[in-house]
Amino acid sequence: MIIETIEVGGCRSYILGCTDTHTGAVIDPEISAIERYRGLASQHGLALRYAIDTHTHADHFSAAREIARALNAQVVMSHLSAAPFVDLRLDDGDMLIVGGLRMRAMATPGHTADSTSLLVRDHVFTGDTLLIGGTGRTDLPTGDPDQLYDSLFSKLLKLDPATHIHPAHEYKGRAGSTIGEEIATNPRLQKTDRAEFVAMMRALNISAPTHLTEALRVNMSGKKSVAQLLSEASGAVPFMAMDELARRLTRRQNDLIVIDVREKEQFDAGHLPGAMHLPRGQLELRVNDAFPDPTVRIVAICEFGKISTLAAATLRALGFMHAAALDGGMKAWREAGFALES
Ligand SMILES: [Fe+2]
Repeated sequence: MIIETIEVGGCRSYILGCTDTHTGAVIDPEISAIERYRGLASQHGLALRYAIDTHTHADHFSAAREIARALNAQVVMSHLSAAPFVDLRLDDGDMLIVGGLRMRAMATPGHTADSTSLLVRDHVFTGDTLLIGGTGRTDLPTGDPDQLYDSLFSKLLKLDPATHIHPAHEYKGRAGSTIGEEIATNPRLQKTDRAEFVAMMRALNISAPTHLTEALRVNMSGKKSVAQLLSEASGAVPFMAMDELARRLTRRQNDLIVIDVREKEQFDAGHLPGAMHLPRGQLELRVNDAFPDPTVRIVAICEFGKISTLAAATLRALGFMHAAALDGGMKAWREAGFALES
């Protein structure tokens, strides 16, 4: 049996593999580590059959769907997960067969309603239900300290004390732990009385994870993060360098239109010589009048270079085949000392 641990920030994901059959599963994959999962799987000669999320993550962008698509694997989550793209939904006690390995799903709600732990031989993937020296928080959407108490004290902690735990987070780089070690040393598990445990969990005052609402939105819907939207737009348009555009403006050739997509106030305060003002918010409604010729060369400009990328991508999508965006924005343009007018 292979267990590979992949760390990204404080998040841990895993590749589980059966050495006899060369089949495997990835658990809690994160979007920024996609190439590492692929690399590790091929290094071990594993065909990944399942991409499993132990719960709806609020702190990172899940890669389960992308991996499943790319590798022809199945996305696996709990029956209670909201994500519409799950192929295989698990109930408590369901088992997945990964080659010669049997992986049993244990419903362990509390951190989230859909939290599921996965038991394979003497290893348990605990998601955010049980961490090394801690537990998952219960103050995020669908969290419930009462349920966490039951999941821990009536389920996970009843496993053989020698069982190795593999949590979805580890912030201090500790290599591993067992159920027995956690029972003995995990500070949160010393509160064995339900009321005391619940009170302790309610009193924790942990700051919200960065990207909380965005990660929930993306993981629950399978749609895009803002960063993904921008990176797709920048893959779909060409850019023009500032010095190239400056040179073309000085030559005063009448072969390209510069559109400034910022708001009026910003435009009035200073813009490129000859730039046309067409705010991003009005772009789609005004293109027909503004650019009757679809072959015209258009360079979009904004303050930082992001909105102009989206504007250029929109123009391309609308059939303006020579639309591009400035590499950089007005801020960089001003700092570089290029010509302005107001
Ligand atoms: Fe979590």
